[in-house]
Amino acid sequence: MGSNIKDPLELPCGLVLPNRLVKAAMAEGLAEKKHLPGTRIFSVYEQWAKGGWGALLTGNVQVDVRHLGGYGDLATREYQGDEEDALNAWRKYANTCQQNGTPAIAQICHPGRQSPRGAGERGFFEKTIAPSEIALDIGNGLAATIVRNIVFGVPQAMSHFDIDRVIAQFVGCARILAQCSFSGIEIHAAHGYLLSQFLSEKSNTREDQYGGSAERRARIILEIIHQIRKAVPKTFCIGIKLNSADHSRSDFEDTMTQIRLFSEANVDFLEISGGTYEDPTMMGRGLQNETSDTENSRTQSREAFFLDFATETRKRFPKLILMVTGGFRTRKGIEAALKSGVCDLVGIGRPAVLNADFPRLMMDDDVYSDRQAQALFSKVPLPLLARLLKIRMLGGGAETQYFRAQIHRVAAGNAPQPP
Ligand SMILES: Cc1cc2nc3c(=O)[nH]c(=O)nc-3n(C[C@H](O)[C@H](O)[C@H](O)COP(=O)(O)O)c2cc1C
Repeated sequence: MGSNIKDPLELPCGLVLPNRLVKAAMAEGLAEKKHLPGTRIFSVYEQWAKGGWGALLTGNVQVDVRHLGGYGDLATREYQGDEEDALNAWRKYANTCQQNGTPAIAQICHPGRQSPRGAGERGFFEKTIAPSEIALDIGNGLAATIVRNIVFGVPQAMSHFDIDRVIAQFVGCARILAQCSFSGIEIHAAHGYLLSQFLSEKSNTREDQYGGSAERRARIILEIIHQIRKAVPKTFCIGIKLNSADHSRSDFEDTMTQIRLFSEANVDFLEISGGTYEDPTMMGRGLQNETSDTENSRTQSREAFFLDFATETRKRFPKLILMVTGGFRTRKGIEAALKSGVCDLVGIGRPAVLNADFPRLMMDDDVYSDRQAQALFSKVPLPLLARLLKIRMLGGGAETQYFRAQIHRVAAGNAPQPP
């Protein structure tokens, strides 16, 4: 039942991944004018295209130019007049990734209430949008409240018109990417972004057909999946990234219900991650880790962050293709996860930034011993100010910023540096 790193994998849509190591989505912050991909991002993916990955997941591509997750995010729009140039840029992006036969899957996203002021073409004082009018909780204390109000504000609850527009934007984005030769998309419904805000009862208190039960909170995503299916070729892959939930948590069964619905909607794979801006566990920097990590900063306390949840998901949905991302650093750890059958694919984030050839390190066992086949590096130190202000998102933010800066070094032709 288990698999090996080097085994190819055929997804339900027919797309074949040559092995089990997927470069995880990492927002590059390298968009050129009009939020399009250009030479800088191509230089980075040129390296990853040579690395021997099973698939390259792009950093998030936003579906609405008015709401970006960060200042340099890529985004699609309904192109008018400038269509040819725009489509050529997207085509070149897909071709750069896929020049050596590695499939490229673009992650598509709407940040919802996690869109900082000034990121995107909406007016500076215009509100973010979310299922309900509930502000982010980024920490206790006055400083956190002030930062939250200045940076994010309180979102506006979405009307049905807004919901229909967002669904159309996801579908439009997927259609453009399919037209431009990407092998698939992944719907970003994790890390506290808009679709994850819909899934969670904490951020979705709606009483209409998009809220009120686990099923109804998943409805917007199911509509997006169904409409994308109609708009793209059958061979185009549609994956989804979701947050895990703790067995002990009340929302665990709700999450399992939602996974059942996505599985019934025939998603090609489910990527399991975790965390939000409020509690960045995807970086190994959640509420618990932030206080007690000093003596153990060169090693991870556990090889992977979300395997327990994957184990439970696997038991209930044995046919669903599962990818787990977060914390994998060694050949031994990756092999153990795959061989045990807990997951089919392993997502690799930060180690992929430091070493674009990470798959060779893992797979060339004639060249690299098990002891050599690992990527260990320190945590990015948390700035003193962040610790004093007690703003939780700054732990994950420090990791993201550091690694994004390394992606920018690669874009400029320099070697990345470990923290
Ligand atoms: C610079 C950077 C940008 C990221 N951007 C995204 C993103 O756009 N979409 C996403 O789903 N996850 C994003 N992540 C999270 C990664 O996909 C991954 O879940 C996380 O880094 C944990 O995996 P790792 O321990 O292998 O790094 C980002 C991570 C980093 C370091």
